Amino acid sequence: MKEVLNFAKENFNNYVEELKDYLRIPSVSTSEAHKGDIEKCADFVADKLKAAGMKNVKKIETAGNPLVYGEWLGAPGKPTILIYGHYDVQPADPYELWDNDPFEPVIKDGKIYARGADDNKGQNLIHIKSVEAYMKVKGELPVNVKFLIEGEEESGGENIEKFIKDKKNKKLLKCDAVLISDTSMYAPDVPTINYGLRGLAYLEVRLTGPNRDLHSGSFGGAINNPANELARIIAKLHDKRNRVTIPGFYDDVVKLTKKERENFASLKFSDRKMAKEFGVRELWGEKGYTTLERLWARPTLDVNGIYGGYTEEGAKTVLPSKATAKISMRLVPNQDPKKIAKAFKKYIKELAPKSVKVEVIDMHGGRPAVVPLDDPFLQAAARATSKVFGKKTVFTREGGSIPIVVDFMEQLKAPVILMGFGLETDDIHSPNEHFPLDNFERGIYSSIHFFEEAAEVGKK
Ligand code: BES
Ligand code: MN
Repeated sequence: MKEVLNFAKENFNNYVEELKDYLRIPSVSTSEAHKGDIEKCADFVADKLKAAGMKNVKKIETAGNPLVYGEWLGAPGKPTILIYGHYDVQPADPYELWDNDPFEPVIKDGKIYARGADDNKGQNLIHIKSVEAYMKVKGELPVNVKFLIEGEEESGGENIEKFIKDKKNKKLLKCDAVLISDTSMYAPDVPTINYGLRGLAYLEVRLTGPNRDLHSGSFGGAINNPANELARIIAKLHDKRNRVTIPGFYDDVVKLTKKERENFASLKFSDRKMAKEFGVRELWGEKGYTTLERLWARPTLDVNGIYGGYTEEGAKTVLPSKATAKISMRLVPNQDPKKIAKAFKKYIKELAPKSVKVEVIDMHGGRPAVVPLDDPFLQAAARATSKVFGKKTVFTREGGSIPIVVDFMEQLKAPVILMGFGLETDDIHSPNEHFPLDNFERGIYSSIHFFEEAAEVGKK
């Protein structure tokens, strides 16, 4: 294995150049305008898989963006690891807040800046490069691998869900464990395995007042203003204890166990440090829970965007016809996104007075996940990262969502290992997203170690 690690080390600069090329493709999945870039990016990934020595590499067309598949199955009797990642990225706007062009990567202070640097191009390239290093040095891998890299994770990932649920694809995807690097480490230099993700229900609330914009002097006081009303409705969605007021919202929430609360507490999270990092005077959230509990094991509701009326320069006296808010809820086991979306719709409709028209539109959702900590492949990943970082691996949950994780668990009956190398401060989904190059490098070494460790799993 030493030779493989050395080879990866010697070639690391080339890997960085390849990451730059990957990042130059603006594969934004949330808008139709980037369809061409999506195709280009899928081809790019397919080429990289071929160059890494993968067989049966193909772009799999779906009703949406193509999946990219590749495999190497030359280790009969050894475990098969399915590696998942996504080549699509979030939109880069607001552009003016970037210090560089989001699709022209720049390296500063050992970090690479571009949209997708961490989420998820940097993180999935880790495994393509580790496999390539192995194949180049040894001509074979210690385990069988399959890659499945999708192109619409950031916009809901409906088509991969259909694909893995389709019985015809069961054989293609059959594996002993799924490996995903799309989460963050607990802190810099602290190797981390993640065992939980929140789910999501995302909806849009559209209020319409008058049938056209009106003069706010001539009509203010006679006609309800949908922007005012939207603010009133949103204000009612949390109570004094900062709990979500939707009836039934907490009904299915699994209570934190004493053991888990202790485990979270042992991580010694600093509220003060987080407040300082993000420039707020204090943290906020549901009363009665610590910050890690609120982030990882309690559901939340947030407005993602709110608009309506006049938002340009200067003052225009207008009573707008429409106001809209995009609202998402992060969910925890055993909340069901469909049930929560239904309860949300019903409640919003109840809150809206007759003086406005209300529409609530479903955007997308995803189920929460918790994976068993005692799984031997997960433990193998913990050993691998611990060796590379020279520290004990910590086990965390995550506030973000990767909806496909539960489907993998259910459909493939395989454990999912979330071995992430991002940092919370990498600004994913935000301007100036970046990825520390030493995490890219240590990720590659961890992946190499993982294959070795995983090959031993199941041996008597
Ligand atoms: N990589 C993230 C998930 C994540 C977020 C991990 C934060 C660690 C920290 C993933 O690509 C993502 O952003 N998922 C979306 C899912 C949604 C669009 C269905 C999310 O969490 O918003
Ligand atoms: Mn991601």
